[in-house]
Amino acid sequence: MAALAGRHSTREFSSAEIPAQLVSDLLWAADGVNRVQTGGRTAPSAKNWREIDIYVARGDGLHVYDSTLHGLRHVLRQDLRAATGIQDFVGAAPINLVYVADLARVDSTDPVERRFYCAADAAFIAQNVYLFCASEGLACVIRGAVNRRALAQAMQLGPHQRVIFAQTLGFPTSH
Ligand SMILES: Cc1cc2nc3c(=O)[nH]c(=O)nc-3n(C[C@H](O)[C@H](O)[C@H](O)COP(=O)(O)O)c2cc1C
Repeated sequence: MAALAGRHSTREFSSAEIPAQLVSDLLWAADGVNRVQTGGRTAPSAKNWREIDIYVARGDGLHVYDSTLHGLRHVLRQDLRAATGIQDFVGAAPINLVYVADLARVDSTDPVERRFYCAADAAFIAQNVYLFCASEGLACVIRGAVNRRALAQAMQLGPHQRVIFAQTLGFPTSH
């Protein structure tokens, strides 16, 4: 109840780094494995596709969350934070998550179903992040205002990958 009462969007962030353990817990809350036997995740996904990858854009480069290993895999050295959005706060906040659908894991050829389900699956993860942030005193905002094509290029994504949303995270400025 407290997390739901505190959930809100924030567009002003402190530049303070988020401690590593908090980032680790946040990623687990976002879409970590909560049922070891089946590999089930904290977020549901259509037909259990588990097609959304969480990329983590930080000052130290681009990483991707591996749910199975519960760890970050380094992807690129560049600081791509500013490229994840078109709003001023995006480049200065410590973390931007980018939700990327891997269509290679989507066994539907219906373009409408693919779009709706990928967007819904990313949104469930984003809501987990919102609630985690509310419970831990972090600030965040989900963002659809993303230049998807340019960002996909900057992230060097493959032809089967689609940028769905981004979500900015940090401490509130009052922190
Ligand atoms: C699909 C979606 C896309 C959004 N895109 C943006 C965005 O690009 N930039 C932004 O600042 N907020 C964005 N928002 C946040 C909404 O503006 C925000 O949730 C709404 O104003 C309600 O405020 P609240 O989250 O504090 O309740 C988006 C929200 C959703 C659900």
